Amino acid sequence: MEKVKIGIIGAGGIVQYAHIPCFQKLGDVEIVAICDPNEPKLKEVAEKSDIPQKFTDYQKLLSQEEIDAVIVCTPNAFHKEQAVAALKNGKHVLCEKPIALNSKEAGEMLKTAEEKNKKFMAAFCHRFDNTTQFLKKSIDRGEFGEIYYAKANYLRRRGVPGLGGWFTTKKLSGGGPLIDVGVHMLDTAIWLMGSPDPVTVSGSTYNKFKEQAINGGWPPSCSRTGDKYPGTFDVEDLATSFIKFANGATLFLEASWSGNSEQGLFLSLFGAKSGASVKQSEEGGKTGERGLKIFTEKGGELIDISPILTDVNPYEKQAAHFIECIRENKEPITKPKEILNVIKIIEAIYLSAEKGEEIRLR
Ligand SMILES: NC(=O)c1ccc[n+]([C@@H]2O[C@H](COP(=O)([O-])OP(=O)(O)OC[C@H]3O[C@@H](n4cnc5c(N)ncnc54)[C@H](O)[C@@H]3O)[C@@H](O)[C@H]2O)c1
Repeated sequence: MEKVKIGIIGAGGIVQYAHIPCFQKLGDVEIVAICDPNEPKLKEVAEKSDIPQKFTDYQKLLSQEEIDAVIVCTPNAFHKEQAVAALKNGKHVLCEKPIALNSKEAGEMLKTAEEKNKKFMAAFCHRFDNTTQFLKKSIDRGEFGEIYYAKANYLRRRGVPGLGGWFTTKKLSGGGPLIDVGVHMLDTAIWLMGSPDPVTVSGSTYNKFKEQAINGGWPPSCSRTGDKYPGTFDVEDLATSFIKFANGATLFLEASWSGNSEQGLFLSLFGAKSGASVKQSEEGGKTGERGLKIFTEKGGELIDISPILTDVNPYEKQAAHFIECIRENKEPITKPKEILNVIKIIEAIYLSAEKGEEIRLR
């Protein structure tokens, strides 16, 4: 079979760090085009990565008939417009998280994918981590029993990504750490809980470090060379929330870019038969090894298990899965209802914080 031909929209940090190297590792794939309005960066990335076609206008990239699939990796505010246009041009789409700024946009993207009969996958790379995969398989085998409570947080002590750039400008990003990194933990936790339907959401947001924030998040230095940083910071630096689900389960979720607390990624699952905790460090936007512990019982005694898992690169697994879905006409791991619920919850947390009351989801 011919190679799957990929076009990339956005030539920034995540594209250089993850998508280009991981898709280029796959033998049956070719990245044929890339687009970015920042011309010097576009040229540099295309040349460095041997990508033959360069465009500053994404519509021109989408008009290339040979392109089978597109990866949308632009600031969040452009995802909906670009993904919908790609689907309407007959392309499959892998869209970076958060897929959209709100549930209305997300709904339009998912509806277009269905109407055009094209694959649409959200880039929830944490689903492909060795710990998440191990837990999901164990949970699906019934080894944890019912998961009735979870805690998930992604906490940075001082680490705002692109301080003063699009990440910290609400109209471009949709929000701060909640929609940026909290979205990963939210998706992972709900997926492991069996994707229950959210019923009520209560949230608060804070911005206490506006003047002291340090640019230290994502991506690694130098990848934004040439970008303009106007200095806006009108999003939260910490979000806290509590979500109740239709099956009675609850989730406590936190996300920060700045705060006086321990930092890292933490997940805690309370199952009726077993529980688990996952801890992962993060320095300068790079995540370290994950520590997994299982809490269970054996022979009438409480035991802790520390599985030693084979290392994987989640971005490589994500790329391989997307291509497999295209080639074998499979449904992507991120189901439409799951994608929509994640964005509905984020939207409700921001609304709850603004109104100062609990939000009931229909
Ligand atoms: N899954 C992950 O682990 C992960 C990590 C980082 C970022 N992300 C997501 O990836 C996306 C990009 O983040 P980033 O860190 O690469 O940001 P970035 O600022 O490094 O790169 C964004 C690029 O998009 C370009 N761009 C802006 N407007 C455009 C347009 N209209 N058309 C085409 N290109 C345009 C910019 O010039 C820039 O080069 C965001 O949605 C972010 O949330 C995901």
